[in-house]
Amino acid sequence: MDLDLPHTDHGPRAGLPILLLHGFPLDHGMWAAQERALAAAGFRVLAPDLRGMGKAPPGKGPGSMGAYAGDVLRLADRAGLRRFALAGFSMGGYVAFEVARRAPERLLGLALVDTRMEPDSEEGRRGRAAMMEKVRQQGPQALVDAMLSKMLSNSAPSEAVERVRATMMRTPIDGAVQALEAMAARPDSTATLRGLACPVLVVVGEQDALTPPDAARAMAQAARDARLVVVPGAHLTPVESPDAVAEAMLAWARGLA
Ligand code: MLT
Repeated sequence: MDLDLPHTDHGPRAGLPILLLHGFPLDHGMWAAQERALAAAGFRVLAPDLRGMGKAPPGKGPGSMGAYAGDVLRLADRAGLRRFALAGFSMGGYVAFEVARRAPERLLGLALVDTRMEPDSEEGRRGRAAMMEKVRQQGPQALVDAMLSKMLSNSAPSEAVERVRATMMRTPIDGAVQALEAMAARPDSTATLRGLACPVLVVVGEQDALTPPDAARAMAQAARDARLVVVPGAHLTPVESPDAVAEAMLAWARGLA
């Protein structure tokens, strides 16, 4: 069943709508700088918490990309958005691909930030299963131990690292397990990306080890109309290089208006 996602809604109502989908195990707060910049430039910016993260309750049953995408489309319907631009960071990118499979005609543009189009490898799926077990036993501390050092580079400000740590620690166990299930089961999105006619922005951190620059280059090559922007930082570039990511997203969004 689709959920009503808690979300922020900034900028003029009549502005071109942009939905921002956060990554795992995070919440909409990771987009604060880009949300501010886009809203100040006249775009209507909606940033939900995806189910089982931030303030959104987990859904029922095993996690699937279909469930996350259904929630996003319900949010768009409830906000009265017939067509909208969509930006997804990492897992948010996987969700954005599922939205693109279900409703390509509704997308005005797609921004893929530190994400990848390929599914998990067999080894990756085994890693997800092991992480589910650890999270069930140790709670979100297991996520912090495994992921925090890969999210931000050594040069990220310590307040940013602490904010991200606190967000990760608030992730409910069910929400984390469902996200891991959904990511492990996600399909290959190469054909989805190739089939999209809308302008695509690809952003990647030059030191991103989770979704590396090679994966970003492959997406930029697969899309029909793409721009690739490489910015300083590791995985969580919207937090680590907020202005560079905002600038790339502003240029992309202005091209859609
Ligand atoms: C994320 O940042 O959303 C996740 O690390 C993505 C993943 O684990 O594949």
